[in-house]
Amino acid sequence: MGTLPWWRRGAIYQIYPRSFADSDGDGIGDLPGITAHLDYLTDLGVEAIWLSPFYPSPMADFGYDVADYCDVAAEFGTLEDFDVLLEEAHRRDIKVVVDFVPNHTSDQHPWFREALAGPQSPRRDWYVWREGRDGGPPNNWRSSFKAVGGAWTHEERSGEWYLHSFLPQQPDLNWDNPDVEAAMHDVLRFWCERGVDGFRIDVVHKLAKDPQLRDAVPGEPVPYEDWRPQIHERLRRLRQVVDAHTDRMLVGEVYLLDLERIVSYVNTGDQLHLAHNFVFLRLPWDAAAFRSGIDGFEALSTEAAWPAWFLANHDHARVASRFDHDGQGPARARAVLLMLYALRGTPFIYQGEELGLPDAEIPSDRVVDVDGRDPERAPIPWAPASQAGPGAGFTTGEPWLPLIADTERLAVAVQEGDPDSTLSLARRLAALRRRLPALQSGEQRSLTAGDDLLAWLRVDGADRYLAIVNFAAQARRLALPGDLPRQGVVEISTDPAREPNGPCELANMQLAASEAMIVHLS
Ligand code: GLC
Repeated sequence: MGTLPWWRRGAIYQIYPRSFADSDGDGIGDLPGITAHLDYLTDLGVEAIWLSPFYPSPMADFGYDVADYCDVAAEFGTLEDFDVLLEEAHRRDIKVVVDFVPNHTSDQHPWFREALAGPQSPRRDWYVWREGRDGGPPNNWRSSFKAVGGAWTHEERSGEWYLHSFLPQQPDLNWDNPDVEAAMHDVLRFWCERGVDGFRIDVVHKLAKDPQLRDAVPGEPVPYEDWRPQIHERLRRLRQVVDAHTDRMLVGEVYLLDLERIVSYVNTGDQLHLAHNFVFLRLPWDAAAFRSGIDGFEALSTEAAWPAWFLANHDHARVASRFDHDGQGPARARAVLLMLYALRGTPFIYQGEELGLPDAEIPSDRVVDVDGRDPERAPIPWAPASQAGPGAGFTTGEPWLPLIADTERLAVAVQEGDPDSTLSLARRLAALRRRLPALQSGEQRSLTAGDDLLAWLRVDGADRYLAIVNFAAQARRLALPGDLPRQGVVEISTDPAREPNGPCELANMQLAASEAMIVHLS
C-alpha cells in the first residue's frame, strides 16, 4: 500500500481560485484565501489540490487566457503568496497541482503582441496564421464556445487570419514549431523547480492538429485535433520534462468523447499519468450507462493505465442540479461522492461538491462568462449569510458572482456541525478510503444487482467490499449473484436514516431512493 503513488491514493480536489476564498475584500478569491483554508482540506482528507489558473491574464476567459505563464495575477496575490501556499500545503501532506494552458495564450501575451507586428516577426510562426479562402476564413473550424462562432479572426493590418479554438482573445499556439514546444517545456520546468507536484493540462488533445488544416466534416467528431502520431510524441516529451523531477504527475483534460482515444493517452505508461474522462462526465443518470462507461474504460485499459473519475468541474453544471429532474439531485450528489471514492481510480472532486452545492441562479445582469458557466462557478459559502453577511464568509466585499441562495443550510459552518450533512459524509468517505487498501488499490469486479442498481466489488486479498448505487428515485431491492456471502456489514451509506455499522442480510436488502452504500462482506 505504501508503494501506491500519491495520485492514485486519494482524492484530488479542484480549486477555482476566484471562487474559493477572498482574503482582501475585493470580492475575488485569492491564493492567501486558499492558504487560510488548508485545514479545511486536511479535514476533508484530500490528497492533492489542483488550482485552476492564477496567472496574469486579462481574464477574458477567467484566467484560461494566460498573459504570463510564470507569475501570479495581482488579484490572486504574488509569487511569494504561491510559495507560502505550496509550503503550507506540503506541511499538511497535501500535493499541489497547477493548471497548464499550452494550447493558447492571451492576445495580451508578449509573444502574440510581437507576432502581431507582421509576417516578418520572429514570433509570427508561434501562432497559426493563414490567408483567407474566397474572402472568408481559411477553413470551417468552429470555436468551442458557441457564442464565438468561427475559430478564425481576421487581422486587419496583415490581412491574414489567426486561429483561436476558444475566444479571439485566446490565439492558438503553433505546436508544429519546435520553439513553441521548447518554450512550453520551460514553463513546466519553472513550476517543477518551484516545487509543484503536477499539472492539469488544459485541452491537451488540441496540441496536435491536422497540419493541412482541412475542413471539419459536419456531423462527424472533430477530426482535426488529437492528430496522430504527433500528439503522442508531444505527450511523451512533456512526460520526459516532468520525469526529470521526482514524483510529478500529469493529468490531461482529454475532451474527446471516445474511450479508445482517451485511453491511448494513458495506456503506454510514458504519456499522461491520468486522463479526465469526459465520456463519463457526460453520461445520463442511468445505471446501465454508468456500467458500460466504467467497464468500457477498464476493458480498453492496459496495466499501465489508471482511471480518473469525475462528474463535475468549473465548465459543467453541478451534479446536484444536473441530475435533479425528479427532485433527487441533492441525494444523487451524495451518491456520486460515494461512487467516486469507491471506484478503482482517482476521484476528482470539484470545490463545493463535498457540500452538495447546486448551481447558483445568475440574474442576466450578472452574467460574465461567454459560455454559460457562471452557475457552477459561484463562490463557496463558508458561513450562513445571516451570520456572516451577504458574502457568506467568502468575502467581506461584493462577490464577483452571486452565491447560491441557500447558504443557511449549505454553508460549510452549518454542515460541519451536522453529522448527517454531505460534508460529513465526504469526510467519512475520504477517511474510509484512507483506511481500506481495498478501496485504494483493490481489484474491481462489476456485478449485476438488479434494475437501476450499479454494483461492484473491491477486493484486497480476503477483504471484500461491495459498493452499490441506486439510480432510481424509488427504493430498489438488491438481487446479487449467488456466489456472494449472504451477510455483510454496512460501512457507510449516503442515507442518514440507515443504521451505521449495522449487519445486513444481503439477500433481503433494500436500498432507499438514490441511496449508495459500501458493505463489508463477511
Ligand atoms: C478548458 C477549460 C475551460 C477553458 C478552455 C479554454 O476547457 O477547462 O474553462 O475555457 O479550456 O482554455
